[in-house]
Amino acid sequence: MGDAFFRHMVAGMRNGVLAFTRDGRLTLINDEAYAIFDIPRRPCDLGRPVAEVLQEHPEVVRVLNSAFDVHLLPNRAELRLRPSGKVIGYTLGLVRDDAGGVIGASMFFKDLTRVEQLEERERLRDRLAAVGEMAAAIAHEVKNPLAGIEVMAGLLRRRVADAPDAQKVLTDIITEAKMANKIVQEVLEFVRPIRLQVDRTAVASAVQSAVQMAETKVRGSISVDVRLPEGLPLIHGDQHQLTQLFTNLLTNAYEAMEGRGRVVVTASAARIDDGTEGRAAVLVELADEGPGMTPEVAERVFSPFFTTKPQGSGLGLAIVRKIVDAHDGSIDLQTTPGAGTTIRVTLPVRGVDEFTN
Ligand SMILES: Nc1ncnc2c1ncn2[C@@H]1O[C@H](COP(=O)(O)OP(=O)(O)OP(=O)(O)O)[C@@H](O)[C@H]1O
Ligand SMILES: [Mg+2]
Repeated sequence: MGDAFFRHMVAGMRNGVLAFTRDGRLTLINDEAYAIFDIPRRPCDLGRPVAEVLQEHPEVVRVLNSAFDVHLLPNRAELRLRPSGKVIGYTLGLVRDDAGGVIGASMFFKDLTRVEQLEERERLRDRLAAVGEMAAAIAHEVKNPLAGIEVMAGLLRRRVADAPDAQKVLTDIITEAKMANKIVQEVLEFVRPIRLQVDRTAVASAVQSAVQMAETKVRGSISVDVRLPEGLPLIHGDQHQLTQLFTNLLTNAYEAMEGRGRVVVTASAARIDDGTEGRAAVLVELADEGPGMTPEVAERVFSPFFTTKPQGSGLGLAIVRKIVDAHDGSIDLQTTPGAGTTIRVTLPVRGVDEFTN
């Protein structure tokens, strides 16, 4: 086997690979390495000092420089790239000549960002499972006495027809009990495991139903601009759950705008990067003209019970996350205080094939 075979092998690897000589000159680098580092390939890169080629990544250069000093090279280590925030897992190895003298070093690495996200999701899911069971039990116990309070306050209100003050108090009690009941319902909905009724589903029609549902909650002059192109692929999904997902997102957008402004909902065909040719998907973007969020708020919005609203239960987005996860999709948000919020939901065409928990 000649040199060419090894060159092609390195070029085709799905890990980043680079190697350099004792005096710090780059001797080998593959496409995956360029992609992970987000730097363009230049024909003159080979032979140049690594520190120059990777000047945008001093943190990597530091690690490479240490290859010859470190007595025992770490078996596997991780590093966060700036400014992309990508996490790479890497190993360093020494290159020796036939006599055993060190003539260079190599680094073998992989982008772990996605792995990290999956682990994060799994941790969240475990935590939710435990919290969920307890919440379900409590919600269930609270539901009956709550219904009792509402009914009895209603009876009492009829008996005090001639005492408007007492009537007002009772009306308040009923309103509060209704509110508590709504929260209990939401908790139950949130903790119930999702059983998807999977069908070939048009995301566009889920969006349209959601617009209708959410419209009943709008006060003021909010306009919704729905842009749904023809011919989007049907996805394997649960129409009812997807409607719920978009209703929650639209409701938040309306509430954020407090009766003024416009929401733009756009759907488009997309691809999810999976390291090969990509998975077909549908992307839905909701952009509002609300007040946006501070980074501290944005970080917590998907946590159950996180809310900044006096009447909120903080479950809207937790339910959204759960439905997106059940469809094997992803969700992210872009927001700047004062400049509105854009939420992007990506749903793979073949996310789930059958009933899923
Ligand atoms: N479009 C948005 N613009 C600004 N802030 C938002 C937006 N969507 C969500 N938020 C913030 O995220 C928090 C959590 O949202 P989430 O939908 O989970 O709960 P909630 O709306 O407060 O209550 P619930 O939906 O259960 O009635 C909100 O309280 C709000 O602070
Ligand atoms: Mg909400």
